[in-house]
Amino acid sequence: MTQSKSRKLVAIGAPGAVTDVRGRPLLDLRISVMDRCNFRCPYCMPRETYGEGYRFLPAAERLSFDEIVRLARQFAAEGVRKIRLTGGEPLLRTGIADLVGELSAIDGIDDLALTTNGVLLAQHAAELRAQGLARVTVSLDSIEPATFRRMSGGFDGLDRVLDGIRAALEAGLTPVKVNAVVQRGVNDGEALDLASHFRGTGVIVRFIEYMDVGSRNDWRPALVVPARELRDRIAAAWPLVPLAPAQPGEVAERYAYADGAGEIGFIASVTQPFCGGCTRARLSSDGVFYTCLFATAGTDFRAALRAGAGDEQLRRMICATWRAREDRYSELRGRDAAVATERKIEMYYIGG
Ligand code: GTP
Ligand code: 5AD
Ligand code: SF4
Ligand code: SF4
Repeated sequence: MTQSKSRKLVAIGAPGAVTDVRGRPLLDLRISVMDRCNFRCPYCMPRETYGEGYRFLPAAERLSFDEIVRLARQFAAEGVRKIRLTGGEPLLRTGIADLVGELSAIDGIDDLALTTNGVLLAQHAAELRAQGLARVTVSLDSIEPATFRRMSGGFDGLDRVLDGIRAALEAGLTPVKVNAVVQRGVNDGEALDLASHFRGTGVIVRFIEYMDVGSRNDWRPALVVPARELRDRIAAAWPLVPLAPAQPGEVAERYAYADGAGEIGFIASVTQPFCGGCTRARLSSDGVFYTCLFATAGTDFRAALRAGAGDEQLRRMICATWRAREDRYSELRGRDAAVATERKIEMYYIGG
């Protein structure tokens, strides 16, 4: 099924987009603008590892806005249509709205979104919108203060996140999506509460299967709640009607509440991998281009930029890297235990 999805993608066509070994066009670019975060979600940046003494990137090692924009232009020239800014926490990057302004002006980019934990969103929403950001996705795993605190690594900021979501709706950064990572025995029992909180508000909640990203989060299969199980639980409370994908290569299975209370989604990256339609490239905050969320190595664009590479050379590097791409980690994970034990790049660094 994933194979036919990928053929369909090519058929739908992205004229001019470079394609990889499996025929998947390069359409999306996820740019991590900041490796730091003000949360310490145990599944991403456990406090034991990322304490006071942890050495994040010094500012000079991060790509500057000029470097990011220059690279984004080359990616757009090779077919990228959608850019998502991520982190770490992208709103910790000073002047982020200026970067949004420059990226939104690039020819060919028709969707510009940002993923945030929402704590600083209320103060930034209006400016981000004014600079051309189309929409935001807020990571929020629970609507129960105690569980929120546990899953964010001890942060008492639930009200601020909810204020941020309200501000995003008011600013028109829509559709606002909420991403909830689900862990069995931690927050799965409260999934209905989260769904219920946002039903009828226009906010689209998406439940994400807990993935084995990185190698510091003690991932175990027993912690994964299959999206189907969650969907059935939710459908038992509020009947659901399946929706067709809004975009090719979409990661979420979308449903509408039959009673008209809006939309909900499930991201089954572990139990139903979507590598066949994966059109996503990732740029880390220090300028390394990765062709998979689970990559172990990437192509260093910061070195090329700082060595004086011209635009054409950068585009050649983009194309060569993408043409050689064979990644399909999530499809292989289940079949080959060796694949799953290789050391991987951490999520906060590569960008969710
Ligand atoms: P929309 O355009 O709003 O649908 O965004 P998106 O589909 O890119 O989703 P988003 O950035 O919100 O990603 C949601 C989650 O899906 C991420 O945080 C990851 O957990 C997971 N995800 C996104 N892209 C990939 C991917 O390429 N591979 C895998 N395995 N998981 C992914
Ligand atoms: N599995 C699934 N999703 C994850 N995220 C971070 N780590 C994981 C993981 N191990 C999500 C965050 C956020 C997005 C950037 O990635 O909750 O929604
Ligand atoms: Fe920060 Fe997001 Fe990682 Fe949580 S999941 S620590 S909010 S980057
Ligand atoms: Fe794409 Fe890699 Fe995720 Fe598969 S595992 S969907 S190839 S990023």
